[in-house]
Amino acid sequence: MSVNTFGRLLRFTTWGESHGPAIGAVVDGCPPGLAIDESVIQPFLDARRPGQSKFTTQRQEPDQVRILSGVFEGKTTGTPISLMIENVDQRSKDYSDVAKAYRPGHADYAYDAKYGFRDYRGGGRSSARETASRVAAGGVARLVIPEVTIQAWVSEIGGDAINGSVRRQLIETVAGYNKLTDGSPWPTMQENPFFCPDPEAAKRWEKIVDDARLAGSSVGAVVECVATGVPAGWGAPLYGKLDADLAAAMMGINAVKGVEIGDGFAAARLTGEQNADPMHPGANGPEFSANHAGGIAGGIATGQPVVVRVAFKPTSSILTPQPTITREGEATELFTKGRHDPCVGIRGVPVVEAMMALVLADHKLLHRGQCG
Ligand SMILES: Cc1cc2nc3c(=O)[nH]c(=O)nc-3n(C[C@H](O)[C@H](O)[C@H](O)COP(=O)(O)O)c2cc1C
Repeated sequence: MSVNTFGRLLRFTTWGESHGPAIGAVVDGCPPGLAIDESVIQPFLDARRPGQSKFTTQRQEPDQVRILSGVFEGKTTGTPISLMIENVDQRSKDYSDVAKAYRPGHADYAYDAKYGFRDYRGGGRSSARETASRVAAGGVARLVIPEVTIQAWVSEIGGDAINGSVRRQLIETVAGYNKLTDGSPWPTMQENPFFCPDPEAAKRWEKIVDDARLAGSSVGAVVECVATGVPAGWGAPLYGKLDADLAAAMMGINAVKGVEIGDGFAAARLTGEQNADPMHPGANGPEFSANHAGGIAGGIATGQPVVVRVAFKPTSSILTPQPTITREGEATELFTKGRHDPCVGIRGVPVVEAMMALVLADHKLLHRGQCG
């Protein structure tokens, strides 16, 4: 069985490998009549694009998206929307060692164990090139949920976190609780290469990531994502929980090893009183004085900001030699040549936002389908 499709009513399938001619996505179930062209999707791909600073891989991919189907006279037709991104900067010779031996921590051995055959060039289908297809699909999903604002940022690199008060202020701003900005991204995030809202942390991270890069090593990161404007009622109980779908969506991203909703694991260390999200009547309906639940209760949105945190492991392709085995089972050592991200979580930010958009758009359509 093959699983390259995600979603229920808004479904997308991604296709393609790192060193093939192109990659892409087919988005099916998009409502008709939404205004769309490449320029609507391209900014999200530009944010994920490699080679934009020394802190990401130096592979130079323009990641220009082309819409091949599902659009007529600038509007979605309701038929499958096919999105294609050409691969232009492959260097397959960098991967001759990976053809013979497995990179520890990468998917080389697992793919061989499953299929008995693999495209080793750049990791083939297990390469994070695939995440460009998700980001393109996420651009379509955003059109389905214009009422929702999605903002992600890197909140921790190499164990060094942003300032807690910057984080709280950012969540409140995205939530519209305080009107510091007009809803455009937190300005500091555009001024550094880390999608970091805290300028002090961004300075520290320059050294952390650069030291790792120069040492031929890598570091992990935590990405946080908030969606505001999600109406109370989206989601579903039990087997279709909004939080379960978000967890599946985020865990499906390459290198993700943990997902928390709201306070996540920290909630297990609170008492019932500390973890409650007390409610009181407000001018426009119920208000909450806390959001430990991350905007979801019983699998259904409460109308509060939906908050997700995603843990990215350190890049497994590193220049430091690691013990491993060859395809024939012989002991050997491998260090990975080629161009790699010293911290994959950084470029994970637009991918996390895309997956949030795809899940919320799917749940909007599901809610409309059942409840009108
Ligand atoms: C945006 C992004 C970029 C990545 N770049 C690299 C990379 O340059 N080198 C690498 O070894 N892994 C990279 N990865 C991670 C691998 O794709 C991932 O570790 C691999 O597919 C194995 O899957 P798993 O870590 O989810 O188990 C990246 C992941 C993301 C999200």
